[in-house]
Amino acid sequence: MTKTLIQEEKLMNFINGNWVNSSSNQFTEVKNPANLETLVQVPLSSEDDVNKAVQTAKEAQKEWALVPAPQRAEVLYRVGMLMKERKEDLSQILTMENGKVIEEARGEVQEGIDMAFYMAGEGRRLFGQTTPSELKDKFAMSVRAPVGVVGIITPWNFPIAIATWKSFPAIVAGNAVVWKPATETPLMAYELAKIFEESGLPKGVLNVVFGSGSKVGNTMVHHKDIRVISFTGSNDVGRTIAAKCGEQLKKVSLEMGGKNAVIVMDDADLSLATEGILWSAFGTSGQRCTACSRVIVHEDVKERLEERLLSEMEKLTIGNGLDETNKVGPIINKDGLEKIQNYIKIGQDEGAKLLAGGYVLNNGEYADGNYFAPTLFTDATPEMKIAQEEIFGPVVSLIPVKSFEEAIEVNNGVEYGLSSSVFTRDVNRVFAAQRDLDTGIVYVNAGTTGAEIHLPFGGTKGTGNGHRDSGVAALDVFTEWKAVYVDYSGKLQRAQIDVE
Ligand code: UN1
Repeated sequence: MTKTLIQEEKLMNFINGNWVNSSSNQFTEVKNPANLETLVQVPLSSEDDVNKAVQTAKEAQKEWALVPAPQRAEVLYRVGMLMKERKEDLSQILTMENGKVIEEARGEVQEGIDMAFYMAGEGRRLFGQTTPSELKDKFAMSVRAPVGVVGIITPWNFPIAIATWKSFPAIVAGNAVVWKPATETPLMAYELAKIFEESGLPKGVLNVVFGSGSKVGNTMVHHKDIRVISFTGSNDVGRTIAAKCGEQLKKVSLEMGGKNAVIVMDDADLSLATEGILWSAFGTSGQRCTACSRVIVHEDVKERLEERLLSEMEKLTIGNGLDETNKVGPIINKDGLEKIQNYIKIGQDEGAKLLAGGYVLNNGEYADGNYFAPTLFTDATPEMKIAQEEIFGPVVSLIPVKSFEEAIEVNNGVEYGLSSSVFTRDVNRVFAAQRDLDTGIVYVNAGTTGAEIHLPFGGTKGTGNGHRDSGVAALDVFTEWKAVYVDYSGKLQRAQIDVE
């Protein structure tokens, strides 16, 4: 029934304000991970499609940059209103293509709505600085200038929220966008582009080109007229993109994996910690870059925490996300399932103790979908692969430690640095933890997920390359700083020389 929300059988690219067929005429099927029903055909576009999109973006951007920023923001207000009006439909489509349970899908769409209104507000800020000049009768300031055409490459796990994190700041700052959404989740891109179309965004300011990373993504990365690439996805792909952008001196913002931990200290509220772990480990079936996949637990409370986790895990209802009673949805595709299964084997071979789950669910109502049982390992050690590598599934490993200091060390001893959390009632530990945890996001007495859109989102070390999505920090990705000096002395004044 809900499938009637999907209006197209075959999607088209959105270039220069028109819906156009890909010149490749090749498509791939998008399936609902809950039941493998085909939802839509998505084009596998060609280099030529990308080139057209960039050309059109380049032309449109010149005009768009001259529209006053508060007027550019009006478009985002309208986008936000339309998203709000359609929130329920968008959420249901999101659940169908991505699998996440409907409550979480609504949360994700809300994240996009929040971003629209937040970034629209930036249309009346986009602050630069004014500062004194070292010379008399001279004025100095810095302003944010758009970079031009930006390329955004977005993942399937948050197909609408992450798209808004990137496209909204880019657009309000006066750029034009070429966007390659993940082929697994093109419907959110289609819906968002439709909303932009209705919002009155001038033609060519936002262009969507569907297709593979190797063709569409690669062409974007190499295109000389795309001045910034903003990417969220895997570390392997991110590294390749960074290397290619490096050769061209192209700005690149990367947001990649995580190996996020919840630390549970001996003074923690264990019932709260259990709730926090469950939500951040098994929400979105663990397919968040912020998902909790390690629990670093003080040995004095380890057994009690295990018992609580096991008893709460039994209550988790798994199934099609459109059913409001389900708490854990399917895994995106068979490759995802296989990767998770491999890690279960690795964990067992490494000597971690499997306490719950660890298997594919494929009987009865699960037979047609990609379901994996929420999984708990215990007695993992920090150097095990299951405690070091990103699994991207509903698998969490308990690592016992003897002290707060050891907990911090274990948390930081991974190549990633996205999110971390500590459960404690000791104010001294709270402040020490927020200082010493080497991650871009730190939570106290909450799980590792649930970042809010007006704060910077991103991580240290292997999670990224120093940039941030979200918040005012996102504007740094999509603008250049321009320093402007106005000399009103009527004579040539030489900085650093004519100073008394
Ligand atoms: C992601 O997993 O890539 O903080 C994004 C969170 C969400 C965003 C997750 N607001 O978990």
